[in-house]
Amino acid sequence: MPRSLKNDLAHLRKKERLSLHMPGHKGLRLREDTTELALTDNLLQPQGSILELEKAIARIYGAKWSYVGTNGSTSFLLGSLFYAGKGQKIVLPRASHQSIYKGLILGNHQPIYLENSIDELDIARPLKTEDYFKALNKGAKAYIFTAPSYEGYLEGYKILKPFLKDSLTIVDAAHGSHLYYLKLEDNSWADLKVISFHKTLGALNPGAAILSNLEEDKREELNFFQTSSPSFPVLLSIEDSLREMMKMKIAEKLRLMTWLKEEIGKIGDLRVVANDDPFKLLISSVSGELDFKKLGEFLREEAGVFMEIESQGYLLGILSFYDSHEGYKTLIKALKKSTRIDFKIKTHKSLQGKSHLPQISLLPGEAFLQEKKLVPIKEALGKISGVMYSKYPPGAPLLVPGEIIDEKIIEELLTETGDHTGCSEIKDGSIFIIK
Ligand SMILES: Cc1ncc(COP(=O)(O)O)c(C=O)c1O
Repeated sequence: MPRSLKNDLAHLRKKERLSLHMPGHKGLRLREDTTELALTDNLLQPQGSILELEKAIARIYGAKWSYVGTNGSTSFLLGSLFYAGKGQKIVLPRASHQSIYKGLILGNHQPIYLENSIDELDIARPLKTEDYFKALNKGAKAYIFTAPSYEGYLEGYKILKPFLKDSLTIVDAAHGSHLYYLKLEDNSWADLKVISFHKTLGALNPGAAILSNLEEDKREELNFFQTSSPSFPVLLSIEDSLREMMKMKIAEKLRLMTWLKEEIGKIGDLRVVANDDPFKLLISSVSGELDFKKLGEFLREEAGVFMEIESQGYLLGILSFYDSHEGYKTLIKALKKSTRIDFKIKTHKSLQGKSHLPQISLLPGEAFLQEKKLVPIKEALGKISGVMYSKYPPGAPLLVPGEIIDEKIIEELLTETGDHTGCSEIKDGSIFIIK
């Protein structure tokens, strides 16, 4: 029988009388929180149970290699852009997650942005395959895809693969670790695909993996940003969650999600917005006149229901195989109660159109380490941004280091101030520009 983390840790628990190794809490805080010992494996050079876990992940997801980690998808996206080299042209959606931008900064890469469409709810929709076709023959070393998008939209990017022959395809599937189980995605077309088990399956934060279809084993490069003190509870939770999936009543759980969405659609002015991922519950209104920031607050205060996103035009909830019927009934009850209250919106300025691309003056990697100063947003017109300002969630930047601050950005930053906590926080209406 192959080694498992569960067995290793059980064995260690039996055998160990005295811990004279890290961590300093000596197992008193959490028993499974141990370190790399003779009876456990080593995350950076696994040979036992961690390697078995990685082989299982590669098998389940249909990839040549997989490397597991305890530093989130962030660490593997950084690793992917590190593997792409230094100072390369990288094609990416403007609405990419901030971790990809950090990879651009680290590698001093040159971004070639593709603009996302922003829909009537202010959701950045995924790029179309046509958008990528327009970016062929630009000498890009890598093409980045976000699939699925944060709000649960999928595109058929697989058909692009033959056209991207010599480039790396890097897929940010941080929100897609469950899609394999729903037969909604296949992993054959991506060279590198990053998944977070903690976002939509049952692992602890921040359990993640990278799936690689590269010919050779590139552990050193792709795993470069892993800690040398990996969290065994996180690793164990990945193993446990995959084991749980073998017994998961998937069809039953999906039926429950469908029921929830149908019930919500019957409540007052509410509508469930259609998307591709059953795990993503997008609630908006038929009339377009409801203030979902207020409704989100009501759900928190009145019913203890916390959503993933409370935005002006919609609520986003993340469903999972671990949800219960009882939980869904709580949401439905609270939403029904909310119809007695007037949540009518006063004014809503939509960002509908294309994502805004400010002019680039310096590469993100050149700009980020320059000396900066804090100035009031209104005085920043024409200056160069020194940091990244992202609305969080979902964590896609409005403004990137090295970009020239224009009127549109100023307007967006002023209306959204307070929410931009993803990378740099806008405090007292001031932002960092390059001196
Ligand atoms: C699209 C996307 N990519 C990457 C990440 C980073 O994932 P992690 O939190 O596992 O580091 C996130 C996090 O929310 C995300 O939404």
